[in-house]
Amino acid sequence: MKLLKEKIINEGKVVDSEVLKVDNFLNHQLDINFLNEIGKEFKEIFKDIKVDRILTIESSGIAIAYAAAKYFDVPVVFAKKTESRSLDEEIYESQIFSFTKGRAYKARVSKKYIKNGENILILDDFLANGRAVLGLKSIVEQASANLSGVGIVIEKGFQEGGRLLRDMGINLKSLAIIDSMEKGKIKFR
Ligand code: G4P
Repeated sequence: MKLLKEKIINEGKVVDSEVLKVDNFLNHQLDINFLNEIGKEFKEIFKDIKVDRILTIESSGIAIAYAAAKYFDVPVVFAKKTESRSLDEEIYESQIFSFTKGRAYKARVSKKYIKNGENILILDDFLANGRAVLGLKSIVEQASANLSGVGIVIEKGFQEGGRLLRDMGINLKSLAIIDSMEKGKIKFR
């Protein structure tokens, strides 16, 4: 997606050869008009698949899922990372290990919000090692729902997530794939 690549080049900051900071429009401050274009693009890319619900994970995934959901006209469900007394007792849960953060956490979704046989589109901001997507996929499977696609805004192609998920036959589409960020220079696929 041309607009996204321009945004990454103009506003992104390469922290080191593995981490890209996009706080200005995606991870801290939100550029609403830009997010709207992201939502529209996901609808265009996934126009031929059936989507009953969009699933993401807090926190950065929420804005993206919201922007896309307007075009799919479906509800958004976000997995919660923190334990909460208000969360239903009947939940689907999966353990996710974050290599970026060096720790494991749990993602939880109430059984009320994913139903047997539904077609689920997973959306998220970054794909690194793919563990968050695999955790959400497990939740979709626990609900006996169908994973119809996975949409990512920025895939870091030099980490293993993309290959792992594509090898599993997952319908994965990324709006931008970064192949390297050596010496501060971003190379797109
Ligand atoms: P994985 O799911 O693909 O295995 O990724 P990993 O656990 O390594 O990533 C953990 C968190 O770091 C995720 O955010 C992910 O979006 C984010 N992340 C990974 N690589 C980058 C990067 O290069 N730049 C930025 N800005 N973020 C990156 P999270 O823990 O879900 O936090 P949140 O921001 O959604 O709350």
